[in-house]
Amino acid sequence: MTERFGGRAVLVTGGASGIGRSTALRLASEGAAVAVVDLAVDGAQKVAHEIDGAGRRAMAYAADVGDEAAVAGATAAAVNAFGGLDGLVTCAGIFQPPDLRPLAEVDLDTFLHVLSVNLAGTFLAAKHALPHLVERRGAVVTVASTAALLGHGHGSGYTASKGGVVALTRLLAVQYGPRGVRANCIAPGGVDTPMTAGAFSTPEAVERVRRDTPARQGRPTRGDRRGGGVPALRGRLARHRGDDPGGGRGHRGLARRRSERAPNRARHPPSSSWSMITCSPSPSR
Ligand SMILES: NC(=O)c1ccc[n+]([C@@H]2O[C@H](COP(=O)([O-])OP(=O)(O)OC[C@H]3O[C@@H](n4cnc5c(N)ncnc54)[C@H](O)[C@@H]3O)[C@@H](O)[C@H]2O)c1
Repeated sequence: MTERFGGRAVLVTGGASGIGRSTALRLASEGAAVAVVDLAVDGAQKVAHEIDGAGRRAMAYAADVGDEAAVAGATAAAVNAFGGLDGLVTCAGIFQPPDLRPLAEVDLDTFLHVLSVNLAGTFLAAKHALPHLVERRGAVVTVASTAALLGHGHGSGYTASKGGVVALTRLLAVQYGPRGVRANCIAPGGVDTPMTAGAFSTPEAVERVRRDTPARQGRPTRGDRRGGGVPALRGRLARHRGDDPGGGRGHRGLARRRSERAPNRARHPPSSSWSMITCSPSPSR
């Protein structure tokens, strides 16, 4: 494995489980020092110990991403531990049964709670990381969902929050691109993690995920495997190649106008059901 992130420090929210855990492990295996930030402190510590055990630098921090003071504390702790921040990956998120009812039956508290974690949590993590990312001309990778691109038909708060994450990432790319910070968004399709709790165990479920995935070339991937499902994140943080064949298409024009460079072709691994929403232009190499 190459050291593409040697000497860099990355904060991963939701790093205790699933996609965030895989991302933290993969980044560390490629040389990054990783701050694993999660509400689940035991899980975060376990991931940090795993990284430590492999001879890499890591720290765990317990924080609710919807709580600004906690996010500020997590960011400050990461900066203190590693001397700065080069990357932020916002994986923390929730997908909850009360939010999965038909919209007219979802109560406002449920809707707002999902927004506070998935959308406000992304906002807060970015807000506190950005001053440090500007210093090092770093990168942000946010995690939306194909729900934001298609409307899966369930999860009012979830779908709205993920749509918000896509829009917020575009705003970030435009606002902070001139200051050297890139921002891009990943929209996973079905990933077999604790969040989806075995929901992809039947051939029918797999087929539904395949049908609902804009790339239309994948099947559910595993988010809890070392490195599973994260090559896209890796590429995004490193040098932003590729483009999404789904919802981000319209924004390619913006990237081209702003940079006078055409982004590269889609680079989906054949088994991946993920989509990528390119918001920042590829950096010059
Ligand atoms: N699994 C999928 O099929 C799928 C598909 C599309 C998008 N996503 C998105 O990917 C991201 C990761 O999901 P996953 O499947 O790995 O789920 P997961 O449940 O395995 O991991 C989510 C992590 O976020 C943490 N978290 C939850 N609320 C938090 C809060 N308030 N503050 C801090 N941490 C909190 C959890 O403790 C957990 O460690 C989420 O944003 C999710 O919406 C997942």
